[in-house]
Amino acid sequence: MTGGLYSRLIIACAILLSVLLTGLGIVLGQFFPLFSNESGLDLQRKYWLFLIVTLVLAFVLAFFIATRMMLQYARPIDQVTKTAVQIARGDYLARTQTDEFEFDNELAVAIDKIGNNLQEMSMLRTMEKERLKTLIESMGSGLLMFGREGSVNLLNGVFEKTFGFSKSEVIGKTFKSIGLPTDIENLIEEVFMTEQVHEKQVRVDVGGVSSYMSVYGAPVIGHHGNWLGIIVVLHDITKLVQLEEVRKDFVANVSHELRTPVTSIKGFTETLLDGAMEDPVILKEFLGIIQKESDRLHYLIDDLLALSGMERDGFSLQFTAVNLNAVIEDAIRGVSGKLERKSMDVLVTIPDDFILEADADRLIQVMVNLLSNAINYSKEQTKITVTVKKRQDDAVIEVRDEGIGIAQSELPRLFERFYRVDRARSRESGGTGLGLAIVKHLVEAHGGTVDVKSVMGQGTAFQIRIPMQQVEKQSV
Ligand SMILES: Nc1ncnc2c1ncn2[C@@H]1O[C@H](COP(=O)(O)OP(=O)(O)OP(=O)(O)O)[C@@H](O)[C@H]1O
Ligand SMILES: [Mg+2]
Repeated sequence: MTGGLYSRLIIACAILLSVLLTGLGIVLGQFFPLFSNESGLDLQRKYWLFLIVTLVLAFVLAFFIATRMMLQYARPIDQVTKTAVQIARGDYLARTQTDEFEFDNELAVAIDKIGNNLQEMSMLRTMEKERLKTLIESMGSGLLMFGREGSVNLLNGVFEKTFGFSKSEVIGKTFKSIGLPTDIENLIEEVFMTEQVHEKQVRVDVGGVSSYMSVYGAPVIGHHGNWLGIIVVLHDITKLVQLEEVRKDFVANVSHELRTPVTSIKGFTETLLDGAMEDPVILKEFLGIIQKESDRLHYLIDDLLALSGMERDGFSLQFTAVNLNAVIEDAIRGVSGKLERKSMDVLVTIPDDFILEADADRLIQVMVNLLSNAINYSKEQTKITVTVKKRQDDAVIEVRDEGIGIAQSELPRLFERFYRVDRARSRESGGTGLGLAIVKHLVEAHGGTVDVKSVMGQGTAFQIRIPMQQVEKQSV
């Protein structure tokens, strides 16, 4: 028997019913002598017998009715009540299990349905929570949220990593006590004061490393327009800022590089017009300078156009089966004038008929640039060696000279546009500082890499690695 309220009520009713029936038997027993003419002792015995039978019958009847009622109503209701209490406590998996009873009532069905619905809702909530957590953690930007009372109640991993804080250090703190950079603190204060969106670019120095952040602060407004706190999103824009710097440098460099020959041409032309052209020797010398400077301008503009063409969307290479032996021959032919002028030689070591999938014209352009550098930055009568090998699935081309060499500290910047180790010397050789940038672009467009090794005073070796086969047509 269960100890439920309804079961106890029914047992109490059964006892009450048996007491009532017994009482009724006693009352009816008073009328017993009226229906009998037997003498005192017999009558009393029969009276007691009748009383005992009535009592037993009353108990049996009460027991039967109580058992039926308990099975049909009381226990199921107690069970449903127990289940409802469990569900109310948050155990959404609890069910009424009334099948074992002869019971079919809507209450149990409804409670089970509530249980099902709550379980579904709780699963959905858990899923939503997980999804939100994943989103916050994987959003790539730092996130910080302050509650209405002004203390932190949420932050993500990116924020922790950016500032080197841990969640436990920050949660519950006010914005002034976290130790954020002053600019970010000021922005948060402004959002708290004005309840308006604020955005700012700030420079953050953490552990000796500088980065740039776009900080966005906004008030969080609930469904009913009530103010719930503020949210701060920090987006790392260091790369963008650096790109912007590169762009500014580029414009400054181009302007400078264009101005130098133009100033020179203008100066010499004016001097000639002012009367110097009367002297044929000066005239010839100045015209020579003007021609040289115009050539520089011409090369510079050609290189700039080539680079911008390569960087434009849709630039693609024409891949065909290329004979590298022929490519190297063509490139050497292209620099033969310079080689002759400096009495230099090129020694080529390459397997016969070395075929790879590449853009022949671009490969010649790469080789001409590397050979020109090897000539320009070497003394007369030195040697250049070009070695080609197949390593795994790549062709490795090395151009080695016995020239002036490049300091180790200069190597990382060598492939930047306009970067020249010795500006004066490079300008002397007509260089613009764009050659290696073009080489790098073209090699990477082939899916390859460029590497450089150098020893000051002994020489430099540029090594290009290009896949023998192109996986797919590349475009840069
Ligand atoms: N083989 C080399 N030996 C020594 N220094 C080199 C060599 N190749 C390149 N450099 C250095 O690297 C710098 C950049 O080379 P890059 O080819 O990009 O420009 P450049 O030769 O000055 O001009 P251009 O655009 O006409 O090629 C050169 O100015 C030079 O200082
Ligand atoms: Mg060059």
